Amino acid sequence: MDNRQQRFEVMRQRCEAAGQRHLLRFWPGLSDDERDALLADLEQIDFVPIQRLVETCVRNIPPHADFQCIEPAPFVPRPDPDHPSDETHAARDEGWSLLRAGRVAALTVAGGQGTRLGFAGPKGCLPVSPIRRKPLFQLFAEQILATERRVGHPIRWYIMTSPGNDDATRAFFREHRAFGLDPGNVVFFPQGVMPAFAPDGRILLDQPHRVALSPDGHGGSLLAMARRGVLAEMAAHGIEYISYFQVDNPLVRCLDPLFVGLHAQRGSEMSSKMVPKSDDLERVGNFVLADGHVRVIEYSDLPDSLAHARNPDGSRRFDAANLAIHVLSRGFVERLTRDAEAFGLPWHRAEKKVPCIDLGTGQRIEPAEPNAIKLEAFIFDALPLTQTPSLILETDRTEEFSPVKNATGVDSLETAQRDMVRRAARWLDVAGARVPRRADGEPAHPIEISPLAALSADDLRARPPPTVNGPTYVE
Ligand code: UD1
Repeated sequence: MDNRQQRFEVMRQRCEAAGQRHLLRFWPGLSDDERDALLADLEQIDFVPIQRLVETCVRNIPPHADFQCIEPAPFVPRPDPDHPSDETHAARDEGWSLLRAGRVAALTVAGGQGTRLGFAGPKGCLPVSPIRRKPLFQLFAEQILATERRVGHPIRWYIMTSPGNDDATRAFFREHRAFGLDPGNVVFFPQGVMPAFAPDGRILLDQPHRVALSPDGHGGSLLAMARRGVLAEMAAHGIEYISYFQVDNPLVRCLDPLFVGLHAQRGSEMSSKMVPKSDDLERVGNFVLADGHVRVIEYSDLPDSLAHARNPDGSRRFDAANLAIHVLSRGFVERLTRDAEAFGLPWHRAEKKVPCIDLGTGQRIEPAEPNAIKLEAFIFDALPLTQTPSLILETDRTEEFSPVKNATGVDSLETAQRDMVRRAARWLDVAGARVPRRADGEPAHPIEISPLAALSADDLRARPPPTVNGPTYVE
């Protein structure tokens, strides 16, 4: 038996054992290249739990958690930027010394498909900055570079891709010479995949020789870090704290000394940043406390009665929005994934439209209605697994959160650029520049501040304020 035939035999047995033998239906008519492609797809699937998943999450809808006993999650209120407390000072100092000692790495999850945005390449390649049109990846790279310069120590940056965008992401960094970072310190690793299922539990084929696969959710980052040797290489570099953020937020502080310092001082295993919600139904996750553990409940799962609930003083009861910015201790991720086979975050089920092959005719179907179930794991489901209280730090939305998710409207490129300009104008105000405003209060000209020039308003105080009388780029 040649190698291909042996691999086929292994896959045939796995597919049959999992009730998925139809995946090989078109095998006899495939070319050698197509057979290799199909085998490569099948070999990415973990078939062991498939039958159980089909029963619990595909053919049946998993029962909802009981949301009746939840309370708002406690959080550390936003430090006053003008009068920081002694604790804030001490935590920030601690964060800087951890950065100086090389014990902090950045982690960007960039494996998503960006379907809502409709941008062809990996989302991190999207040009976003208002003047120079710097892509998201460059804004993060320059923050990391600026921090490296300040601490005098290289900082490792881990970027989780997915099999579908890994090549394009790496090529983008090569083309741009890692935006000034040492390419040896930028580590890419692909996340795992999950097949899409028909409602009857059969895995869908995208083509006769391709399985309909998609990334397994940002929760897949934990197992991917274990399986791809990322945790081991972090340990070898002395990295203890992982500063986690999503690729979609150009305002994020990639390495926030205060946040890292507080996380370390409080012995938290997984910490999170939050802001008060903009309205009851904002499309974000909500931090809550359930059975003494912090959890995130997505807006889509939070019952309306709770979304609209009020405290006696009239303020919103569930008000803490998840920014998807976390610090994770490496030891926590190691503990969770030590037995990789036993570890698993819960799967979240979504009904989606997935183009696929009709198994009878072999014709491609472009569905007009959702025809498939996709399963994803979410990073925030690790929060209830911590053994120490989980820290939540309140922060300022206008400083740190304006994600690019949609092509237009809320959370779009337009709103993110508007918020970048507003933040830049505020920072220049602090530095003593005279920033002209329009009648509606918005900055009269686009302004962009390079992360290499300033990581916060304070960084601008030390230099002469620029004159703003047209589009202004602060270098
Ligand atoms: C997410 C959070 C939400 C939070 C909001 C803040 C979920 C389910 N919800 O919403 O609680 O308030 O961000 O902006 O996550 N990604 C991967 N691999 C995947 C899937 C996603 O790397 O398999 C990455 C994406 O590249 C992106 C990020 O995760 O950077 C967000 O994923 P997305 O599914 O768009 O989450 P949101 O619905 O925006």
